[in-house]
Amino acid sequence: MSTDWPPQFLYTVCQCGVEQALKQEIAVGPVDARPAYSRPGFVTFKLGKPCDSPEQFQLPSTFARTYGFCLGKVVGDHLGELARQVWQWPAVEQMMAVQPISDLHVWQRDRKPPGFRGFEPGPTILAGEVEAGLRECSQIDGLKKLSGDPRLPSRRNRWVLDIVLVEPGEWWIGCHYSSRRLDCWPGGVIPFELPEHAASRAYLKMTEAIAWSALPAQRDDLCIELGCAPGGAAQALLEHGLRVIGVDPAEIDPEVLAHPNFQHLRRRSMEVPQKALRGVRWLAIDMNAAPAYTLDAAEAVVTSKTARIRGMILTLKLADWKLAAELPNFIKRVASWGYRDVRVRQLATSRQEVCLVALRSRGQRRVQRGSRQRRRTDAAHASGSNGPHLSVDM
Ligand SMILES: C[S@@+](CC[C@H](N)C(=O)[O-])C[C@H]1O[C@@H](n2cnc3c(N)ncnc32)[C@H](O)[C@@H]1O
Repeated sequence: MSTDWPPQFLYTVCQCGVEQALKQEIAVGPVDARPAYSRPGFVTFKLGKPCDSPEQFQLPSTFARTYGFCLGKVVGDHLGELARQVWQWPAVEQMMAVQPISDLHVWQRDRKPPGFRGFEPGPTILAGEVEAGLRECSQIDGLKKLSGDPRLPSRRNRWVLDIVLVEPGEWWIGCHYSSRRLDCWPGGVIPFELPEHAASRAYLKMTEAIAWSALPAQRDDLCIELGCAPGGAAQALLEHGLRVIGVDPAEIDPEVLAHPNFQHLRRRSMEVPQKALRGVRWLAIDMNAAPAYTLDAAEAVVTSKTARIRGMILTLKLADWKLAAELPNFIKRVASWGYRDVRVRQLATSRQEVCLVALRSRGQRRVQRGSRQRRRTDAAHASGSNGPHLSVDM
């Protein structure tokens, strides 16, 4: 593998078992890249030609949790020896001569799917030890000083050196530019933990979906969730300040049921009366059903005369990975309801499913930021383009 700068190899990180769907997605996508080395949860690609502007590079992908440029790998038995090899690695030195590195991300390749026997992707003790060792022998003062706390994101729009612990004694070296929110977290995983009071694991999924999408919901906005039992996702929405109508024929966790901002409609999604949708602004769906059924249910709500749905978070179950090829059609269908900003991602906490987030316009994403930032006048969002902004992940 040639590891010159500008780079010609990519690494991608995905959930275990999703490698084929990821390769297929890249094969038909806009980036000219062919699969190279592959292990469960870790796939490299060779670009058709070296990347001219690495800072601007984007790999549109539902299944790549994160990605970056691949600089090679080091192999050895001792942490200190491997760490020294990293800093002396020619491609790393070459890269650092062109781009200053301002942070270091270290993580382990997933060994199991999320939720399997308690496994959740995220920081590990080993990754923490490797990171400490690397920082200790780094020649870059800024890297030595950083706390390396996995609960703090890196800064935006900086170069980050990546170390992926692919096998014991085999570290893959990469780098990426932190242009997106998720690029600021090692391995593209925001380290959420399932609290004891959570009614289900769906709490984690909804927490991650809200964070990834930067859901521009206001306090006390009304959300309807179809397929809400036992109520973990509803808890996350309630903790985010929303009022929730939960629709499900199954039983709800007593703690959720007792929440003053939660109302249970004990029925199926298609039996929700029109009047129950009055004032509803957000829609969440997490039913154990085929994507077509979930989308039918979503369409029934968004086209109802009483609801004014500003945005939605849909879980699309991919019982068969062949359904991944249908994702562009699912996105188009949601866009046809008047949602111009549609994104799809396999969340780090998701199993065999993807999360679709749709907003009426991309400008909605700025609603929350607007209170913190002065109004920007950049042309990117002020553009007069009328076409929908459709993407698999941003
Ligand atoms: C994966 S669980 C939902 C987990 C839930 N979101 C949570 O936070 O705990 C799927 C749920 O979908 C519900 N479901 C399946 N078909 C449904 C339908 N047509 N209408 C409403 N709920 C449905 C099931 O009863 C089940 O509780």
